[in-house]
Amino acid sequence: MATLNINGRIHDLQVEADTPLLWVIREHVGLTGTKYGCGVGQCGACSVHINDTVQRSCSIRVADVKADDRIVTIEGLSATSSHPVQKAWAVIDVPQCGYCQSGQIMAAAALLHKTPKPTDQDIDEAMTNICRCGTYQRIRAAVHLAANTANG
Ligand code: FES
Ligand code: FES
Repeated sequence: MATLNINGRIHDLQVEADTPLLWVIREHVGLTGTKYGCGVGQCGACSVHINDTVQRSCSIRVADVKADDRIVTIEGLSATSSHPVQKAWAVIDVPQCGYCQSGQIMAAAALLHKTPKPTDQDIDEAMTNICRCGTYQRIRAAVHLAANTANG
């Protein structure tokens, strides 16, 4: 049994303690925007926010999440896909296949929450998500655009 706060809603779930949070989000709650890539904390496809910090949900046991921890998935980042990062992603047309992109967006949003005007080095250090399509240059451009849009 686990109680989770996901995107502002409380979910009481019948799950084993060692179930990965990613699995609970996708299979039990039905939010499939968060992706399974490597399953071992390497690729970032499964990135979500927990208390405003980006975390790789494949590598977190549901038992290690507290009932009052605020989990936010890509579906909860904004009600209308109008978060500055989402808007910048659309303007720059970042995605190629798209598979890694919800994780990239969550990592970028967490970066900007902590560092509103990141340098290229800040972006490279914070955004370690893997993109097999190689969209890294557009990701970097979109993070800068989002920073400028959000902060004037
Ligand atoms: S699926 Fe979680 S880091 Fe790759
Ligand atoms: S857009 Fe295809 S893996 Fe990143």
